Amino acid sequence: ELVGYPHYMLKEIFEQPEAIARTIAHTKVALEQLTIDTSIIEAVTIVACGTAYHAGLAANAMLEQMLNHPVRVEVASEFRYRKPIINSHHLVIIISQSGETADSIAALRLAKAEGAQVLAVVNTKGSTIAREADSVLYTQAGIEVAVASTKAYTTQITVLTMLAAYWGGADISAALDKLIHQVQRGLELDGQMMDLAEALKYEQDVYYIGRGVDAVTGMEATLKLKEISYIHAESYPAGELKHGTIALIENGTPIIAIATDSELVEKMKSNIEEVAARGAKVYIFATPACAKAFGAIAQEIMLLPSTPLYFSPIAAIVPLQLLAYHTALIRGCDVDQPRNLAKSVTVE
Ligand code: M6R
Repeated sequence: ELVGYPHYMLKEIFEQPEAIARTIAHTKVALEQLTIDTSIIEAVTIVACGTAYHAGLAANAMLEQMLNHPVRVEVASEFRYRKPIINSHHLVIIISQSGETADSIAALRLAKAEGAQVLAVVNTKGSTIAREADSVLYTQAGIEVAVASTKAYTTQITVLTMLAAYWGGADISAALDKLIHQVQRGLELDGQMMDLAEALKYEQDVYYIGRGVDAVTGMEATLKLKEISYIHAESYPAGELKHGTIALIENGTPIIAIATDSELVEKMKSNIEEVAARGAKVYIFATPACAKAFGAIAQEIMLLPSTPLYFSPIAAIVPLQLLAYHTALIRGCDVDQPRNLAKSVTVE
């Protein structure tokens, strides 16, 4: 039950350290028991909807590097109707919190019918997707009640990253040991997120920009903001801005820039300068290493915990979940039951 929290969403955001810790412990054992034949895999397709789709995107680069095979990530409602080329050399990974999403179930059945091996990353025990997949890795998020998914997302990325490292023979145990503490550090930004929510509460449009995994974090952050606060938000890979969207930037346009990748920080810096020069109010979420590069260009810098790049989607989304929560709250929205949405989309 709510035990002292005003909303399930806030409770579930704050449960993330323990949910991730449980998931790490469980996944270490589950990976040893996985029966997937990796020797015949030539390509991987990750299929999911909404937040689960973003989890796939967040782990895409790590999986591709570790498996050394092409990995693509697709939305289930598109995948199921586009007649994809799938065969027995394919691994299809279906990600779902509920395990009951209609489009994801249809994608799973299509992949199986074409002879692919199907692995499910699912939170709900005994759900349709868990039962029908060839193998299952369970996230240990516990029951997620709020419509806006939070702890399911970060545990999904945890599982996928551990899977990638396992297959690639990479030892990420030191990074796993530090992850919980880094998520706690993200939660400590709660007060700053309340202040930022005050600054955003009357906005009609908010733009998020980032590069690489930070662009994915932006996509997930916009989904959170849209679904519970009803503010229009868009996320762009920062380098795409000048291919169109920068035309919308004018005096006062709020931009949230996410920067956790030191190798791309100079590119981000020029993108931030471009929007700032057009009058945008830029709020930067950056690791300390990236923050150094920005100097005086930002109105404000929110410091994200430093993690290896493959865990930055976990550490960086935590304060942005809180930002969506506080913004929705100030705007008087029903945080746990947003309009027009169901927790589980069991019909098309
Ligand atoms: O249960 P699933 O993970 O399959 O659900 C997928 C989406 O419906 C879900 O992530 C949805 O986008 C959430 N409302 C996002 O917060």
